[in-house]
Order: sequence, then structure tokens, then C-alpha cells
Amino acid sequence: MSYVINTPEGTRDRLFAECRDRRQVQGALTTLFSGRGYEEISTPEIEFYDLFIQSGNPIPQESMLKITDRSGKIMVMRPDCTTPIARVAATKLKNTPMPQRLYYNETVFRSGVAHRGGSSEIAQCGVELLGAAGAQADVEVIALAVDALRGSATHGFHIELGHAGLFRAMAAQLTMQPEQVERMRRLIEGKNYAALADLLTPYQEEPACQLLSRLSSLFGGTEVLDEAEALVGSREELGYLRDLYARLSDLGYGEDIRFDLGLVHQIDYYTGVVFRGYTEGAGAPVLSGGRYDTLLAAFGRPAPAIGFAVDVDAVASCLPLQRIDPRLRIALTKGRLQDETVELLERVGLDCAPVKKPGRRLVHALPNYPLDAVLAKAPDVITYVEHGVCDLGVVGKDTILEHGSPFYEVLDLGFGRCRFALAVREGSDFYGTYKTRRIATKYPNVARRFFEEKGMDVEIIRIEGSVELAPILGLADAIVDIVETGDTLRANGLIPIEDVAPVSARLVVNTAAMKLKKQQITQFIALCRRGLEMREDG
Ligand code: PRP
Repeated sequence: MSYVINTPEGTRDRLFAECRDRRQVQGALTTLFSGRGYEEISTPEIEFYDLFIQSGNPIPQESMLKITDRSGKIMVMRPDCTTPIARVAATKLKNTPMPQRLYYNETVFRSGVAHRGGSSEIAQCGVELLGAAGAQADVEVIALAVDALRGSATHGFHIELGHAGLFRAMAAQLTMQPEQVERMRRLIEGKNYAALADLLTPYQEEPACQLLSRLSSLFGGTEVLDEAEALVGSREELGYLRDLYARLSDLGYGEDIRFDLGLVHQIDYYTGVVFRGYTEGAGAPVLSGGRYDTLLAAFGRPAPAIGFAVDVDAVASCLPLQRIDPRLRIALTKGRLQDETVELLERVGLDCAPVKKPGRRLVHALPNYPLDAVLAKAPDVITYVEHGVCDLGVVGKDTILEHGSPFYEVLDLGFGRCRFALAVREGSDFYGTYKTRRIATKYPNVARRFFEEKGMDVEIIRIEGSVELAPILGLADAIVDIVETGDTLRANGLIPIEDVAPVSARLVVNTAAMKLKKQQITQFIALCRRGLEMREDG
């Protein structure tokens, strides 16, 4: 009999020092929370799937780990702590007077993308303040969030505030279809400046457009509130953030507070202030929270609420003091994009000699700019930037579309231009049959999404190289692939019948680095912009 001796993907054993570091963070947080009058609550690790559907909580179905009970009902490993707590507030605690101050120290479970280094078990410590609305409650919880990061021994950190109502109010002023609003939200969330500008071009006359087009750039100190007000005049949400900041400053928290008006995640869930915490040494936010005044009503006990959760392991892994490296690190996609990036950077005066003659070295320090360049394959660029081991990356939109974009996509570099296309053997009638068609591709996610949007059922088969062979050999009815000049298709008797998506190189930025190294990164982006303009002029 053979035994499976490894742990499932996304889980791990923790030994000795790792346990100590985790306990240290949990101890600091739970002591802090209970000291402020919050009481511990613990809910089951397994809940009915329906609970999360009823809550309207936007956790994607595929992220939930599911099991069935004896009667066949679907259950999930708790994907967050707030929804079960809302359930308890509406049932067992329904006669307990509000406000209620609760804290938890639990594990949540989320199924991540395979082999991306994510964890399916996330230790969270957090608080929920139920039944309290208004600035005083928000200040109480945000101050607690600052103290949570101060007290869990991380080095440099800050909390960023945004307001869910601001995006909603601005978007409501545009005559835009809901799907387009969602697209705009995603572009703002991803700081995809170029695509956002394109999307908003038809709305330029509308006053709200002025702010929406700047929203993703408005992160930093109180100056971002000034700029937002200069664009749209005084607004309740901006005034509210200013008031919160003044109150928090009076209490001595001002220096740890920043703003990001482009915090537009989970926009249907959050109803007021939203916030995230960043610490040096972590490639993603380590704390996340906000006001959610509609969740409890979904369980029959309408009440305002605000809370946050700290990612305990992310904080614990920063404990061996990690100072910000003043140099930037960029991952370049090897090959043509590397050459074009070098050309762009040389145009603005950067000495790229070490990257041009890399030899067997993989990391190259530029002699006249505080930048280290790493040469990598395209999907690895995404991995390095996602995890924050590289601050920036240059990668094709094809790879981003296939592997996802867990980072900010700040600039379309214009080179490496080509397109994804659907191509078939000349003379074949792809759409003229009811038979399920088979598609060969190196990009299964791109192909799947393309046909899903058409409502077409296809069989996708992954081919690693020279995908054109698949229809020639009769393995597939069509291919979804990159087309640049069209020579490869022509030489093999194939013709493109539909464009799937345009492709070009993008400059991408790690989400935490963008906040923690704002000045260096915005300077570098400006430099790249200048390089692009010089090419256009020249
Ligand atoms: C890409 C793509 C096509 C070819 C298209 O392959 O998969 O085969 O380029 O270019 P064209 O339209 O200019 O002919 P790539 O050269 O990247 O090699 P690969 O098949 O090994 O990925």
C-alpha cells in the first residue's frame, strides 16, 4: 500500500521558528484587540455554501474549497470570517445589544491558482465592530488597524484609506452600461492608465470623467484629496476622508495614514471607507478592511458594520527586519521585448550595457541609474512581480491575459505589437457545424474566455509550440495563437478568421512596491513615458 506523504498544494507544515513567529504576531494582535474591549468569537471551519451566496460576498465560487455533507449539501471551508460572524450576529447574538466588538484569530481557506506560490490556508486575525456607524466608529477601527501593524513589530508600514462611495457616485454620473462600469472599475483597480483613458474618451465632456480618469493615480498624502477636490469640487466622500484624517492625526496616527482613491475592490460589498495596510518586505497588502453596512441585513439583522483582517503569516514573514532596498528591480522578458526595453531606456540616458551583453549572469545592475534588471521568461516575469521580488516588469499582454494580472499594469509600451487570432485551415467552415470544435492553443485561458463570451462549447487542447501543426495534422479544427506578420499562418495554409485581442508589451508594477516606493516608481514610469514620446517625436 502506498501512502501519500506530501501535503496538498497551498498547505504546508510549519515547524519551530515559523510557529513562534506566527504565535508572536497572533499574541500581539489578540492582546491588542482584547485590550480595546473586543471579545473573541470563533466560528466553524466548515459552513454551508449557501451562507456565502446569501451574503452577496464577492468571493469567487472557484476560490472556495468545497465538500459535501452526508445529505449531499455543499459545504465550504470558511473562505472569510466576516460572513460567519454576520450570521452569528443575526442568530445567537440577536438579542445582544449593539454595538458589538468582536475579534477572531482563525484560518480562512481559499483555493488559489496552481503553482503560483499562494497559500490556501490563511491565518487571519481581525476585528468587526457591529452596530456602529459614523466617523467615531471608523476612527476607532482604523486606529486599531494602525496599532495592529505598529504592535506586530513590522518595520515600515502605512495604512491607505479610500472610499467605496466615491467611485459609485462618479460612475453613476456617466451614461455608461453596467458592464462598462465594471470594466472601468477593474482598470482603475489595476492602475491600467492607458486602457482607462481609452475607455473614458467618449465621456470626456462629463465632469465626473475628470476625476474617474485620475482616480488610479490619486494615491499618497492629503495632496490627493486636494487634487480630487480641484477636479470635482467638494464632495461628501472626500470631506469625510479629510475629517477622518484630521481625527486620526489628533490621536497621533496621522503619519501612518495615506490615501488611495483608486481602492475600488469589492465595490458592491463595501459601503464607505475602505483601507489597506502595507509593510516593508511584503509584496501584497497585509491588512484589508472597510465599512460594509449592508451585509448584516442579508441575514435579517440590519446594522452598520466595519472591520478588518490582518494576514498573520504575511506579517510574520516580515519579522526579520526587512528594510526597503533603495534600488528598483525590474524583470525583463528575455528576447525581443528585452531588446526593445533596452532601446527605450537608452533613449532616456540609461546605460544598459550590462543587459545587452548578459553572458550567463541573470541580474544586472545599471551603472548610472538605481535599477537592477533581471532577465526572465515571460510567465516568470509575472510571478516575480506578483510576489514583489521584482518591483517592476516588462511583459507582453498575451502573457498577462493568459496568466492573470495580480499587479498594476501602468503603461502600454507600444512595442511587441501583434494580436491573438482565431485561425483555421483555408476553405474550412468553422462556424458551419454543430459538432463541438477542438481548439489547439498555447493559451488555454485566453481561448476558453473567448469562446465562453460567445456562448460556444469547445474542446481546448494545449500545444506547447508550433501550434499551427495541430489543424494541419487534423488534431484540431482551429487555433488561437499570436499573429504578427501572418507569415506563419500563410506558409501553413491557415487563415485568421477573427481577432481575439490586441497584444503589446506592458510595464507592470507590484502593488505593494507602488505604494512603498512611490517616488522611485513614479519617476521611472515618467522616464519610460518620456522615452515613448521621444520615439514618437523622432
Ligand atoms: C509565434 C506564434 C506564431 C508566430 C506568428 O511563435 O506562435 O507561430 O509567432 O508570427 P507571424 O505572424 O509573424 O508569422 P513564436 O515565434 O513566438 O514561436 P513559438 O511557436 O515557439 O512560441
